[in-house]
Amino acid sequence: MSADATIRRLRADDAAAFKAIRLEALKANPELIGSTFELEDSLDVTLFAGRLEDTHVLGAFQHGALVGTVGFAIQQGPKNVHKGRLFGMYVRPGARQLGIARLLVNALLDVARGQVELIQLTVVSDNQAARRLYESVGFLEFGREPKASKYGDRYFDESHMALDFGRAEDFG
Ligand SMILES: CC(C)(COP(=O)(O)OP(=O)(O)OC[C@H]1O[C@@H](n2cnc3c(N)ncnc32)[C@H](O)[C@@H]1OP(=O)(O)O)[C@@H](O)C(=O)NCCC(=O)NCCS
Repeated sequence: MSADATIRRLRADDAAAFKAIRLEALKANPELIGSTFELEDSLDVTLFAGRLEDTHVLGAFQHGALVGTVGFAIQQGPKNVHKGRLFGMYVRPGARQLGIARLLVNALLDVARGQVELIQLTVVSDNQAARRLYESVGFLEFGREPKASKYGDRYFDESHMALDFGRAEDFG
């Protein structure tokens, strides 16, 4: 099956839909995402609007509905501005395995390429679906933090991955 989806940048006007999909992701996969449902549910929608203007968040739409997101931000500080960060990758369960995450990540790399020299991300180490996705576009693991996060009684290791545009010509 192939993805019949449109990808575009989300702006402040999309804040309500962005908050809704973010809360859905935090509810469905609390162990995979750094934040928590309780924290973000309490935030005003204007804060989400601000996030959409301060960072570059892409949305995937099917029949006008937001079904997936991924974000890109340039890192802070004069010694870090050559690096970007990928965050907030999520595709609604009903839209999975259609290639939408791949469309999102490739569109994000097109945005990041030219703005930063490399892009980094963090992923729960046993999240095979996400790891395979990232590896398939050229991300390599460069470190692993044991017990990086704790949700309930469970600890989760996190893998740090990077894609160096200077070394990634093979992936286009
Ligand atoms: C990870 C996620 C974004 C993938 O979304 P998706 O739209 O289903 O992914 P795609 O259909 O674009 O698949 C792209 C590649 O990802 C990998 N992949 C996706 N789902 C997979 C699965 N269930 N098992 C193994 N690999 C998988 C494959 O490499 C796939 O390429 P292929 O189809 O050529 O084998 C989605 O499962 C999701 O939102 N999961 C919950 C949130 C999450 O884990 N976010 C990442 C946080 S770092």
